Amino acid sequence: MAKKNDSAKKPDNAKKQDTARKVEVKEPAKKAESAKKPEKAAKKPIKITETILRDAHQSLIATRMPTDLMLPILDKLDKVGYHSIECWGGATFDASLRFLKEDPWERLRKIKDGCPNTPLQMLFRGQNILGYRPYADDVVYAFVEKSIANGIDIIRIFDCLNDIRNLQAAVDATNEIKQREGRGHAQVALSYTLGDAYTLDYWMNMAKKIEEMGADSICIKDMAGLLVPYKATEMIKAMKSATKLPIQLHTHYTSGVASMTYLKAVEAGVDVIDCAMSPFALGTSQPATEVMVETFKGTEYDTGFDQNLLAEIADYFRPYRDECLASGLLNPKVMGVDIKTLLYQVPGGMLSNMVSQLKEQNAEDRYYDVLKEIPEVRKDLGEPPLVTPSSQIVGTQAVFNVLMGERYKMATDQTKDMLRGKYGQTVKPMNKDVINKVIPGEKIRTERSGAYVENEMDKLEEEMKQWKQQDEDVLSYALFPQVATDFFKYRKAQQEKVDLSQADTKNGAYPV
Ligand code: CO
Repeated sequence: MAKKNDSAKKPDNAKKQDTARKVEVKEPAKKAESAKKPEKAAKKPIKITETILRDAHQSLIATRMPTDLMLPILDKLDKVGYHSIECWGGATFDASLRFLKEDPWERLRKIKDGCPNTPLQMLFRGQNILGYRPYADDVVYAFVEKSIANGIDIIRIFDCLNDIRNLQAAVDATNEIKQREGRGHAQVALSYTLGDAYTLDYWMNMAKKIEEMGADSICIKDMAGLLVPYKATEMIKAMKSATKLPIQLHTHYTSGVASMTYLKAVEAGVDVIDCAMSPFALGTSQPATEVMVETFKGTEYDTGFDQNLLAEIADYFRPYRDECLASGLLNPKVMGVDIKTLLYQVPGGMLSNMVSQLKEQNAEDRYYDVLKEIPEVRKDLGEPPLVTPSSQIVGTQAVFNVLMGERYKMATDQTKDMLRGKYGQTVKPMNKDVINKVIPGEKIRTERSGAYVENEMDKLEEEMKQWKQQDEDVLSYALFPQVATDFFKYRKAQQEKVDLSQADTKNGAYPV
């Protein structure tokens, strides 16, 4: 039997040797083939911005994640290999001072210490910085300068009307500081919206303008989750053909399509996607980091991230998520799919504002009337994207128009300012009849929003000098004068070890 086997094996062995020889002969050809391969399907790992330290908790738990909760996990976040970690700006600045009694600048410095290897990213409202009014150029410059000095690398700058003139001062400041300090990246974000004016040509034209204005990259900022998968294919391809700048996509899971949108966008050539670690992903937040990493594993877009490391990070945040659910800070309602977002093209936050305004007026039965009025007001005001603050302006005016029984019988101050051109230029002209009714005879502004504000740093510093402990304090005060002053009082009391049980926290009064 053994013999038989031997003899039976012989031809096999011979064959094997034969194949081996053949392989040897073929090898040079094969090598050449594999050398060519990268050219054919070049590896293009998709880059990821992690939002758990900013947008994820801003969207799900009203920006309440405290710095102390972030610090122990920074070391692991820094090892993942993220394109960047978004950790500052947006509502985090206000929430730190107002609710958490934390110095936002100190938070930034601590995060930078904990993440020395990963670029840090912030969200910046153009000329409005992180506040709600246009600031003078000297404040914009100082804010950009201090943000970079304290640890920010990438500044994502947007304007609620997509009037990119309102972004120029911040982009110029970033570029100037980058030249001097060797650090800083100006990313211009376009607020994504739907409407007649927002054609592929519009987005391509904007991409060209952003490149011309000296930005380092472009972000498509889809705050309401309106960008559906196949539209993302069209849009990314079109914009890629118009600019050489890297393109990043930011969306929210609100309408339930976000991870599919990312898949199509990545296939169409997008460079970076914004994701959140799973305990604070989905719902009104971003697609989950781990899911996106797994989706692209083994493909040309493979991130190369370590799922075990990501699992450890998720394990860290999960008990905090449970805590937030138990306390009611995280409402299960925001975790589901809100398809109304797609039906009415209204961001979720705007809908809930509207509902509470109607409740206050005992007029909840007018909900659908207001929903119908919103697109009309938006048209009257030049069809702007609906994002802070234009979303609040349009929403509140729509409620007024319905409840007063006559359109624009009453207009809010913000509606008036919008019609005056104070926020900048809209993509379409505003309704002349509405202008004549609301602000008859008034002069309409045509310049960028910052053009009307005199330099104000010296004046601001003079107003708050008794509280100043660092240059950054002047900027906190510039954005939120009352809230920052309350915080400065609290800080001083803490430093002087005042018994806080004696403090009248409600009125912000601390016995010093
Ligand atoms: Co967002």
